[in-house]
Amino acid sequence: MEVQAPSHVPAERIVQFDYFADPGIADDPRANSLRLRGGPSLVYTLNNGGHWIATTAAVINDMLAQPEVFSSFPYLIPKQVSSPTPRPFAEIDAPDHGKYRALLAPLTNPKLIAGFEADVRNLMVELIEGVYAKGGCEFHVEIGQKFPIFIIMKLLGLPPQDRDMLIDLTDKVINAADPDVRRKARDQSEAYVTRKVAERRGGAGDDLISAIVNGQIDGRAVTDAEAIAMVTNLVHGGLDTVRANMTFMAHFLATHDDHRRQLARDPSLIPNAVDELLRWLSLPSLARCVKRDIEFHGVQLKAGDQILMPFILGSCDEAVHQNALAVDFTRKDTKSLTFSGGPHFCPGRAIARLELRIFIEEWMERIPEFRLATGSRAVGTGGVVAGLRNVELRWDVER
Ligand code: HEM
Repeated sequence: MEVQAPSHVPAERIVQFDYFADPGIADDPRANSLRLRGGPSLVYTLNNGGHWIATTAAVINDMLAQPEVFSSFPYLIPKQVSSPTPRPFAEIDAPDHGKYRALLAPLTNPKLIAGFEADVRNLMVELIEGVYAKGGCEFHVEIGQKFPIFIIMKLLGLPPQDRDMLIDLTDKVINAADPDVRRKARDQSEAYVTRKVAERRGGAGDDLISAIVNGQIDGRAVTDAEAIAMVTNLVHGGLDTVRANMTFMAHFLATHDDHRRQLARDPSLIPNAVDELLRWLSLPSLARCVKRDIEFHGVQLKAGDQILMPFILGSCDEAVHQNALAVDFTRKDTKSLTFSGGPHFCPGRAIARLELRIFIEEWMERIPEFRLATGSRAVGTGGVVAGLRNVELRWDVER
């Protein structure tokens, strides 16, 4: 949906940029965002209802540090696909936001995460062994889509038979270009979560749904509506992001022989390689909404303006990193905006890093040499989290 340029937007700031549907996304979603590097630090597109785009680390960091000016509600671009009222965690602004985030303490408890490692490793080994003898797989569907959903369902205590249905709904909520498809999928996943929340209220389970639904906010019980919103946010936050990162990482290693062999020779580089690839990929593009008229980095912003933050433009900013577009597994500072910043800094980052590290460790141990199938071509997708489909990997099977 394209709109007229608002009067406060200078004509020279207007660019063509549709983060769902630009034609370049299929070839390379990263490149489609990176083409805005080197231009003004705030530009405006008439696509998707009209919105600003922040193109440097400095602007994005300034926005994330000022939630009183740059609100997380409405959360999505275009506005009509956002919820009608702010919902925890992602859409609530500080200071109230902190009260909800306190319920997620288990996610960032290093002891709990370390205790999770053996299960994560077993799941990964099971998945790799399931495809190894075939000498190939379509990575996105056979591994990338399954692994993170196994993990989040374990965390939430959800039954394994619901897996395929949840994968499908999450994909639609996050990536479908049609707002009606997104809305319908969101309603369906909420109906599912509503049932689970009701089952766990008052119980003694040690899963994350039980911790949330039986938690307290300001000394009162969490309401059903709050619990449903929080659990839904966890499911959406933890699936597509990990799936997309794993799939891009598998594709990168299949197509970069030197990098892949470097990890095969020296697996101790894997933890840093994960952080470097997370930085280089920086797949999420989140938004904020301006709360009051303000001059900001040389432009006039009006209350209600939305600003997209393609985090890749911050993580691959030469003002922050030398040779920012190069992947260097020995890079000392891998600081990035991949997990956002400020009060909404991703609470699942430790679990995400664990999943990605174990994926590469176990894969490289069993399949150190692999490639893309001859003549195959991966296809990029846009949206809040850029994705990659049709990643046909091949390897030689040792008998
Ligand atoms: C590589 C994987 C991941 C990436 C790149 C990622 C990225 C992000 C980003 C950018 C945000 C901030 C949104 C904002 O500022 O508005 C966020 C929030 C969030 N993430 Fe993650 N995430 C990942 C994995 C996970 C996992 C595994 C979980 C759960 C186990 C999770 C749960 C959440 C939740 C609940 C929020 C909302 C937090 C809040 O608004 O306070 N994420 N994530």
